[in-house]
Amino acid sequence: MLYILDRMELTPFVFGKIVSGQDFTNRQAEMERLLQNFNSGTNTVLISPRRWGKSSLVKKATEQSKRKNPKLVFCFIDLFNIRTEQEFYETYIRELIKVTSTKWEERIRAGKALFKKIVPQFSVGIDPANDLSIALDWKEIKKGQDEILDLAENICKNKKIKIVVCIDEFQNIAFFDEPLAFQKKLRAHWQHHKHTSYCLYGSKRHLLMDIFSSTAMPFYKFGDVVFLEKIKENYWVNFIIKRFSDTKKRIDKAQAERIARLMENHPYFVQQLAQQTWLFSKRTCTDKDIDSALENLMLQNSILFQRETDNLTNNQLNYLKALIDGVKQLSSKDTMQAYKLGTSANVLRIKEGLENKEVIDSVGPATEFIDPLFKMWLQQIYFK
Ligand SMILES: Nc1ncnc2c1ncn2[C@@H]1O[C@H](COP(=O)(O)OP(=O)(O)O)[C@@H](O)[C@H]1O
Ligand SMILES: [Mg+2]
Repeated sequence: MLYILDRMELTPFVFGKIVSGQDFTNRQAEMERLLQNFNSGTNTVLISPRRWGKSSLVKKATEQSKRKNPKLVFCFIDLFNIRTEQEFYETYIRELIKVTSTKWEERIRAGKALFKKIVPQFSVGIDPANDLSIALDWKEIKKGQDEILDLAENICKNKKIKIVVCIDEFQNIAFFDEPLAFQKKLRAHWQHHKHTSYCLYGSKRHLLMDIFSSTAMPFYKFGDVVFLEKIKENYWVNFIIKRFSDTKKRIDKAQAERIARLMENHPYFVQQLAQQTWLFSKRTCTDKDIDSALENLMLQNSILFQRETDNLTNNQLNYLKALIDGVKQLSSKDTMQAYKLGTSANVLRIKEGLENKEVIDSVGPATEFIDPLFKMWLQQIYFK
């Protein structure tokens, strides 16, 4: 017999995309804070390593906020595939016009009326409701930078609305030709805006910290800086138990705890391990199902992890070995000798290199692996 399964029955756990509704758990405190900021027009800077739930949180907060306050308009810009300032401006104009005018005639009109110094070329695609593209050449941008950067605020004034501009993967501005000059320009305009506020979020903590909390940088004190944390174990336990029972399977508390702990409460990986365990489980989850799930995940990822280790220098691998062995004082003389790390200046450089490659992250004095599964793989397979 052929069944058509809905997604619920197919898999109760979701990873690798934005989660919402029943796939989303907790984050109440952060949600409140974002809602307050949106309402009061306060800028927000949200930082965490990748895959901890920034995009999901912002999405959910904006949806709740819209329900409460229909005068707020949210504009999303994702820098994940934007590498140049020019692409940034084009996307920025396009998305702002898209969310603030609905019909395409109106869009083209708005696009022309809003600019005095430049003439952007607009074109409408096959689906006029969604496709709008804009071409600007660099000379034009140079002339019209002020207008472009004040665009959101000007639209707000014209339409008597408030806009929150949400920019995801903000750390990518580091790829632009002159990131510092670019930041200065943004800050110079954005700080005068009264009806527009900004929610900037991204990963690479140390890079963003540098942008937002270093006194020498243009974005210093730009807004409310929120460091997103992982989701606490008790939420995971309830969530996992519920998702199993929603789909007519059983898992006990100790097993749900084990899944969360194995993945160190990392949102993406907890969901992934829970899903794999769910797939192995018949009606009732057994400890062996979790073992098999974990083994399977490692196997699935081993090519990727192998490649990741190929990209590391010997020094970096030695450093990771020391971390895995639980060494706390990485630049003590004994450690540097035992793990062949060279001088303490060297240790610092190794650490920076690993942070740049997003292998480790330092939270206060502690240094941890960004990917708990990679750590496990190194420990159990690579360094064995
Ligand atoms: N609040 C949440 N509840 C449950 N799972 C979550 C939550 N936030 C994130 N996740 C898990 O983490 C994954 C990555 O989330 P995402 O929002 O894309 O993170 P980021 O934007 O920080 O990279 C999601 O696909 C989901 O598996
Ligand atoms: Mg994201």
